[in-house]
Amino acid sequence: MTNKDRHNNVIIACDFSSDEELMSFLKQFGDTRPYLKIGMELFYAEGPQIVRKLKSMGFPIFLDLKLHDIPNTVKKAMAVLSRLDIDMCNLHAAGTVEMMRAAIEGLTRTDGSRPLLLAVTQLTSTSQERMNKELLIEGDIKDVVAQYALNAKQAGLDGVVCSPLEASVVKGVCGQEFLTVTPGVRFADSAANDQVRITTPEKARMSGSDYIVVGRPITAAQNPPEAYKRCLSEFNTTK
Ligand code: C5P
Repeated sequence: MTNKDRHNNVIIACDFSSDEELMSFLKQFGDTRPYLKIGMELFYAEGPQIVRKLKSMGFPIFLDLKLHDIPNTVKKAMAVLSRLDIDMCNLHAAGTVEMMRAAIEGLTRTDGSRPLLLAVTQLTSTSQERMNKELLIEGDIKDVVAQYALNAKQAGLDGVVCSPLEASVVKGVCGQEFLTVTPGVRFADSAANDQVRITTPEKARMSGSDYIVVGRPITAAQNPPEAYKRCLSEFNTTK
């Protein structure tokens, strides 16, 4: 398993709705093969074929489908995803340790290899108030994130997707080797869009992120390959 690969630790969120849009975006990168995050929109629009295509072109893939179901269903679905030869995927830690263990079983290939598996703890769109009042989960959201991260570690997962502001809490309870993959990243001089709790690539590194997920600051840039290079250099030149 690769971890902390300093040349490929900026993951581009490919929030496009079709193969054509994605291909015209990627054409600008020439022979460079950045890590790509494929989410529900593109996967549901184009199906698993889009993943096979990108893998055959040599792109590392984080498949962001956030599975959450009974353990047996998740295990079988993960086995299918693993055969797509993806590099990283995820699920909801709320599915319990048993579900996460089943996911690892399903993901593990006959040769013992498997994609990295990350847990979503609490979505950053879930507020403290909603978690307490709607979901009836008591306590501080940071403590819930820490407990879900510990559950993920106990189940054998590699890390979590979390806000850069939670990365140091996760490292504190789960250890430095437990991966943190963080969205919500913006250049100091660029628009926040709809992201609220944002941080720069440099600050994300300082707060303990191992990988950053960056969408619009790259996909909507005038020169996406330049913006990608800037992200890589700002994220990797500290420490
Ligand atoms: O364009 P932007 O950089 O905001 O894209 C961030 C990506 O990370 C999007 O694909 C978004 O869905 C995802 N994400 C996020 N916040 C989370 C989890 C995922 O922004 N808490």
